[in-house]
Amino acid sequence: MAYSAKLRVWRGDATSGELQDFEVEAEEGEVVLDLIHRLQATQTPDLAVRWNCKAGKCGSCSAEVNGRPRLLCMTRMSIFGEDEVITVTPMRAFPVIRDLVPDVSYNYEKAREIPSFTPPEGLEPGEYRMQQVDVERSQEFRKCIECFLCQDTCHVIRDHEENKESFAGPRFLMRVAELEMHPLDVADRVGDAQDVHGLGYCNITKCCTEVCPEGIRITDNALIPMKERVADRRYDPIVWLGNKIFKR
Ligand code: SF4
Ligand code: F3S
Ligand code: FES
Repeated sequence: MAYSAKLRVWRGDATSGELQDFEVEAEEGEVVLDLIHRLQATQTPDLAVRWNCKAGKCGSCSAEVNGRPRLLCMTRMSIFGEDEVITVTPMRAFPVIRDLVPDVSYNYEKAREIPSFTPPEGLEPGEYRMQQVDVERSQEFRKCIECFLCQDTCHVIRDHEENKESFAGPRFLMRVAELEMHPLDVADRVGDAQDVHGLGYCNITKCCTEVCPEGIRITDNALIPMKERVADRRYDPIVWLGNKIFKR
């Protein structure tokens, strides 16, 4: 049954903005993005919203619904009461461009800081061989759709602009972990994880894992194993001695 849903949408730009209230018709089975589109079509043709696939796969429609980082296209209206006010705001950790569209370039800057996959010298594409268990390990991380909801929710940068320079955020620390765990990657990622990408800022609150729409166990499977490798490298006396001898 159709009903009139109450939407409260943030509208504005980098200089100022406000929450505005709307009543928008909702049909059975719809998601929040459907209502944002109907709002655009019927009342606010200049409302800015980023989206692409409407299938939870492009990572474009990230925003916050009632304060929780979510994909608008995967958030069913049926999880809210018909009388509930549904507040839709842009991701808070990034500067706003307009309305629901944030500037996520911080994420691309962090991506560029990570050296790419580095196979052993002389090994040509087509000659790569790895065990199935190693393929499966990185497969989980490669499900990432780069929605940046994990980046948005992590308290290290959510309200701390000053940490952005030294903290890559969960998505990119996960990328470092993926490469570090790759059996054919010969680059040394452990030191940089701590010193360049800011792994030490993460105090494993797991909020990133909770909001990941792909269900990637970012904290347990990427961040904690990386922390263990850093601890081994820096504080295990046997590993430390081995590194010293090996480096001579
Ligand atoms: Fe989005 Fe999950 Fe990738 Fe983070 S790890 S960017 S939450 S898909
Ligand atoms: Fe942030 Fe996730 Fe660590 S939310 S503190 S990166 S566990
Ligand atoms: Fe592609 Fe929502 S529109 S993930």
